[in-house]
Amino acid sequence: MDTFLSKIEAQAKADFERTNRILTFDEYLALVTSDPRTHVRGSAQYVVDMMDHFGRTETPQGSHFKLFDMEFVSDLGDMRHRVVAQNEVQQAIYRSLQNFVKEGVNNKLVLLHGPNGSAKSSIVNCLTRGMERYSESAQGALYRFNWIFPVEKIVKGSLGLANYSGSKPSGESYAKLGDEDIAARVCCELKDHPLLLIPLTSRRDALAAWTKNAPLPDYLTKGSLCHKCKMIYEALLTAYKGDLKRVYQHIQVERFYVSKRYRSSAVTIEPQMHVDAGARQVTMDKSLSFLPTSLQSVSLFELSGDLVEGNRGMVEYADLLKRPIDTFKYLLITCETGSVNVGPSIAFLDTVLVGSTNELQLDAFKEFPDFTSFKARIELVRVPYLLEYSEEKKIYDINLKKVAGDKHVSPHTTYVAALWAVLTRLKKPNAIHYQPNLTNCRRTSRPRSASCSRPPCAGCATSTRRCPITRGAWAPRPARSRASCTTPPRTPSSSA
Ligand SMILES: Nc1ncnc2c1ncn2[C@@H]1O[C@H](COP(=O)(O)OP(=O)(O)OP(=O)(O)O)[C@@H](O)[C@H]1O
Ligand SMILES: [Mg+2]
Repeated sequence: MDTFLSKIEAQAKADFERTNRILTFDEYLALVTSDPRTHVRGSAQYVVDMMDHFGRTETPQGSHFKLFDMEFVSDLGDMRHRVVAQNEVQQAIYRSLQNFVKEGVNNKLVLLHGPNGSAKSSIVNCLTRGMERYSESAQGALYRFNWIFPVEKIVKGSLGLANYSGSKPSGESYAKLGDEDIAARVCCELKDHPLLLIPLTSRRDALAAWTKNAPLPDYLTKGSLCHKCKMIYEALLTAYKGDLKRVYQHIQVERFYVSKRYRSSAVTIEPQMHVDAGARQVTMDKSLSFLPTSLQSVSLFELSGDLVEGNRGMVEYADLLKRPIDTFKYLLITCETGSVNVGPSIAFLDTVLVGSTNELQLDAFKEFPDFTSFKARIELVRVPYLLEYSEEKKIYDINLKKVAGDKHVSPHTTYVAALWAVLTRLKKPNAIHYQPNLTNCRRTSRPRSASCSRPPCAGCATSTRRCPITRGAWAPRPARSRASCTTPPRTPSSSA
């Protein structure tokens, strides 16, 4: 047992050091300059890079992103979350994100709409699980920061920060102090990007130089710290008489990981009515009495809520239109400006907003007078039912494998079920859309009988089509078309 424990302890230690979990501000800047592409990007670019990270395959229906195959969870034997086909939806999401990157702001909510059970939630689930996995890789590393106040100032009763004299030589960061040397660690609930600590004009110049004028998110080029961090920053700067280096001594840069379970940059907002962001005053909190005197006279607020937790990642509005419209009207401003009003301040956000809704609710929403304002802030992506039975079959195969266990399942069960499901999604053919000879064919054909035979059609060519179920003779196949006499061409508009 001891060997086992020491093995995992060594592993944990090695992982901690390898993944650069805790950095000083100087170390962080060195990391940024060594790889600006990874560290200077907004949430939309992050999701685009994540989709590219897992690779893609080219299919006749366009690119298929391997992310949606969820191969990275298949080693756990869990394929239930895989999304079959839906390549057009994947590409539409990818294109929208690329547009946000070009615009510099995630100025729209990507709203997936379609019939019930068409995989809207599954698609978003793949995206968030992909982000979780990507954030564990070196290319997907994400950083936030905390404020560290060392214990010495309390021990020595030093009130002015400028008088701080610890055991550490002046100029050395407090980022890596042990717990016993830390009096207070104040974290930023919004997970502000550490680069926001650089004053705006210098930041813009530095970003332009690092990224060679590649498109940058407004969040980094125009945004600023959240209310609490700004107050602490200003108080320290005043106490240190403008010595920014000493302010940065208090910065501990920390790596964080996307996690839906722990609501870290991946949050799902359920349709019940509640506020998505809020603030609570913390200066009166006794546990913060160790803060510098200059800060105790300032009102500090702790932000909370779904949008706050989802910052720097993705926020999903499940069944968005089931909420009363007033509860998400703020999204109009949030999408336009990339910020949200919380308590005493405006918080800058950088998060991809995704929603889902079914067709009925979307149609009802379109009748709503405010729809025109929302229209400009919503990117509609249709998620239809699958119309390819072979793809539908794959879904049933995955699910059946999971539930059937060692029970016998008749051959072709999923095949027949998939055929049936797809047939129910097709519109009844309308004769006026067909050439006269095929129209004639439809009029003369009889419904399928148990024997599955139909009289040959004069309008069709001679090759006999086989019933896909019984493989018996069924109807002649048109000479130059692979479509059957009664099946309309498969177009998105032909879905029910
Ligand atoms: N393309 C697909 N690939 C894999 N599974 C699918 C696909 N389409 C539907 N499913 C199956 O349908 C089930 C329902 O999917 P999901 O919950 O994502 O649909 P939805 O569009 O969000 O439905 P609702 O409108 O009810 O919220 C899933 O558990 C999944 O097994
Ligand atoms: Mg859903």
